[in-house]
Amino acid sequence: MLEIRGLRHDYDGRTVLSVPSWDVAQGDSSLVLGPSGSGKTTLLNVIAGLATPTAGTVRVAGEEVTRLSPAARDAFRARRVGLVLQTLHLIGAVSVRENLRLAQRLAGAKVDDARIDEVLASLAIPALSGARARDISVGEAQRVAIARAVVNRPALILADEPTSALDDGNCEKALALLLEQAAACGATLLVATHDNRVRGRFARRLEL
Ligand SMILES: Nc1ncnc2c1ncn2[C@@H]1O[C@H](COP(=O)(O)OP(=O)(O)OP(=O)(O)O)[C@@H](O)[C@H]1O
Ligand SMILES: [Mg+2]
Repeated sequence: MLEIRGLRHDYDGRTVLSVPSWDVAQGDSSLVLGPSGSGKTTLLNVIAGLATPTAGTVRVAGEEVTRLSPAARDAFRARRVGLVLQTLHLIGAVSVRENLRLAQRLAGAKVDDARIDEVLASLAIPALSGARARDISVGEAQRVAIARAVVNRPALILADEPTSALDDGNCEKALALLLEQAAACGATLLVATHDNRVRGRFARRLEL
């Protein structure tokens, strides 16, 4: 479901990312590994259509992301891709439920509170639905960010350093939840990290 060919990205004439060929099947999960500055975040941004590469093509679920117009890429991302970024970008002033409703609206879907309840329950945080996002703990916010990434049943989940701010216990839980939620959606999961605690959990990896 993910097909990368001849991908290269340059900043100021310097190549920071080069992926000649990489394929990931629907429903598979893979790590993207590499030291700081090796291009992990750049790669996820290109796959999500947040950045346009210097050369090459990226296909996600049959769509050639690299050929879509900026507006079409935004729509594609909202509908098909779930993002968990290192800084979670929850909207602190409104409730957890409103954060998830916003993700549904941005995807062009109807607000579906039953789906929100289902996702919060599967992440063991149903009691947080009415809490203001700025009033919850770091570990809880991580779960809400995962809930937001999966609420629209994406085909692809991209997580950038999802465990770097977490202690060992929460690291283990966040990974288990990402893998569980991806399996529940039948989604492909890519996790970019330099966190060695994560390595053992994934059979596939791309080393940058
Ligand atoms: N907007 C930008 N302008 C110029 N150079 C950039 C820009 N964004 C990233 N870079 C450079 O591209 C390279 C790859 O950066 P990237 O953020 O993808 O690395 P990373 O593997 O995610 O690193 P980390 O593990 O520290 O998050 C780095 O050398 C970085 O300095
Ligand atoms: Mg990074």
